[in-house]
Amino acid sequence: MDIRLARRLSALPAYAFAVIDEKVRLLREAGADPVDLGVGDPAVATPELIRRACQEAVDERATAGYPSTIGDLGFRQAVAGWTAARFGVTVDADSEVSTTIGSKEGIFHFAEAFVDPGDVVLAPSPGYPPYSRGALFAEGTPWFYPLDAQAGFLPDLLAIPDAVADRAKVLWVNYPNSPTGRCADLAFYKNAYAWCQARGIILASDEAYSELWYTEAPPPSALEVGKDGVVVFNSLSKRSAMTCYRIGWVAGDPRIVAGFRKVKTNLDSGAATFIQDAATAALRDETHVEQMRAEYLQKADMLVAALRAAGLQAALPQGTVYLWQKAPCGMTGLDLAQALLRPEVAIVGIPGELISEPLPDGRNPGRDYVRLSLTPSVDDVEKACERLRRLSF
Ligand SMILES: Cc1ncc(COP(=O)(O)O)c(C=O)c1O
Repeated sequence: MDIRLARRLSALPAYAFAVIDEKVRLLREAGADPVDLGVGDPAVATPELIRRACQEAVDERATAGYPSTIGDLGFRQAVAGWTAARFGVTVDADSEVSTTIGSKEGIFHFAEAFVDPGDVVLAPSPGYPPYSRGALFAEGTPWFYPLDAQAGFLPDLLAIPDAVADRAKVLWVNYPNSPTGRCADLAFYKNAYAWCQARGIILASDEAYSELWYTEAPPPSALEVGKDGVVVFNSLSKRSAMTCYRIGWVAGDPRIVAGFRKVKTNLDSGAATFIQDAATAALRDETHVEQMRAEYLQKADMLVAALRAAGLQAALPQGTVYLWQKAPCGMTGLDLAQALLRPEVAIVGIPGELISEPLPDGRNPGRDYVRLSLTPSVDDVEKACERLRRLSF
């Protein structure tokens, strides 16, 4: 029997991180000891207070049955309380918050609720793939805007042609930004909000890294400029090293949250209740987040010093867990990533073009960059730094 993939799946290239995993495997097979600065998965343990809360909740919830698809009220209230404390924004736990099974799931499925075939979804390049992959699965049309150094890695919304904006349903923004490490200020959100409002476009703000910042003041949320037509996606994955728990949330305009909930009731049966209890405990504690930030900053300092010693122009990120490292003159990001992969160096980074999409004019804004992740342990980052210092670009 002939088994054929659906067109929407077979047309997709391999997910970038699968390609990188394969490279790490090959290096190990060849006897090298790679330091994987490729994937953004925290090496530190999930804080003990969160693990304890989860363990206790498993027993307390012994006969709980299926979770609620929109999330446990206790967790939604914790999200509302945290949002008020962190951003000074009131969201109603009943109608303006809903859980996700990690924000990747929420981001990908969001398009199912709001994108009709042919609708345009505006997404950053470089950027997190599910913004556009979700759009493609909903038979929408992704349109990529560049994040360039000369524009501070912010979108130039006025450069989006009217003919494209007229067909757009969603504008994705992501600050603190993966992979460029830039934060956006309130003025940026005000501008994006006004632009979206004038055109009837949903402002979808991925704030998965909102708590990993190294600036003087914490970065704002899109919700601080308005709720009408705005939805934010956040997650405990990075803030609390809870990637394996798969828990996040959407919050914002109740009509958008209701549309998202309608998809979710058809799709899954909600996040595990004991995971939501662990997430509630995580949201009530800021001490572990401060420690997390301090350790990421320490690793960023170490890596930037080593990259500079190797002759590269490196700068500290303002937020996230990534360095968006520009390749030296005459080299592309792919060249730099290959140089780092030599067995005697064996540092794995993600060539920028693998996480960037070509623009309508064919240019790939990630071409000259490599993404280096700060998620490995301090010891592994130190190992990478020692090897980097032996290089000269
Ligand atoms: C920009 C961005 N958004 C969202 C996510 C998804 O996080 P999660 O699904 O673990 O909540 C990631 C994960 O790496 C990310 O880099």
